[in-house]
Amino acid sequence: MKIKLLSAAFAVALSGGATMPAFAQSSEVNIYSLRQTYLIQPLLDAFTKKTGVTTNVIFADKGLIERIAEEAENSPADLLLTADIGFLTSAVEQGITQPIESGVVEENIPAVYRDPEGDWVGLTSRARVIYASKERVEQDSITYEELANPKWKGKICTRSGQHSYNLALFASMIAHKGEAEAKKWLEGLKENLARKPSGNDRAQAQGVFSGECDLAIANTYYMALMATNEKEPEQQEWARSVKVLFPNAEERGTHVNLSGVVLAKNAPNKDNAIKLIEFLTSDEAQKIYAELNNEYPLKEGVGLSQVVASWGELKADELPLATIGETRKRASELVDEVGYDQGPNS
Ligand SMILES: [Fe+2]
Repeated sequence: MKIKLLSAAFAVALSGGATMPAFAQSSEVNIYSLRQTYLIQPLLDAFTKKTGVTTNVIFADKGLIERIAEEAENSPADLLLTADIGFLTSAVEQGITQPIESGVVEENIPAVYRDPEGDWVGLTSRARVIYASKERVEQDSITYEELANPKWKGKICTRSGQHSYNLALFASMIAHKGEAEAKKWLEGLKENLARKPSGNDRAQAQGVFSGECDLAIANTYYMALMATNEKEPEQQEWARSVKVLFPNAEERGTHVNLSGVVLAKNAPNKDNAIKLIEFLTSDEAQKIYAELNNEYPLKEGVGLSQVVASWGELKADELPLATIGETRKRASELVDEVGYDQGPNS
């Protein structure tokens, strides 16, 4: 597990219970983050500047939910930041959360992006869109349903069907269409794949660039990341070769997933944690998220980054993310039932 400690005091406290009282101080908040530090540090700096509350961060790319569960009542964690509805629901299932009771949060974040019990709250969204070849795809609108149409045979690239981003999309198809139709759709999509699912979202853009496929399913923010990638200029070429199509824009809207936060069950600095969660839903923080991460803010009226705005308007599917969280497991079973990750039969 890759762990980066940003606070020496925090590190000492984590190594044994004896130093725990240090965390009783009311001027701190302890954050476990599955999101990379560079994405969240500017938000935390703005929070400290505004409130005087200092932040201690532990970053790891996995295992933090399990770690909070193991630490139990000795856990110094006040809150956990993560991307994806899968991790948010998993945190609740593993019993490490408590309800976030805040009128400010309820005011700022629409109900479809919050857990009905209050155990998780969305902070930003990202749309699961189509990257279409500028050269080979003429149409400027598309639906998810259409991806199963034989006209796209051998022309679609995706990552593994079991990846959480695809599971959430497939779960939304089950919720909208019913299981039988969603399964038929998934079989059709599988038959249209250009290759066995592999790689990450950016690798699918590369597939379009190289001519291996005409359409790829991927998240919005990767377009911005590729377009501005100075270290790997070939990614800028991948981004230039595709246009962003928002599926189902004319009707129910495009599937979105979340980044979000949970309040730890045994948060030693609960008041400060709520203060931070409220801040993360404020105009100021939502604007930082939009600019820095090229994600969609969830608070109404907050603007988009220039590059995100350049793709046109997002009409987000209003299916509650809680419903997607509940349906993910069935989606995962369907992926296996249709043999999605084996790729097309013919
Ligand atoms: Fe991602």
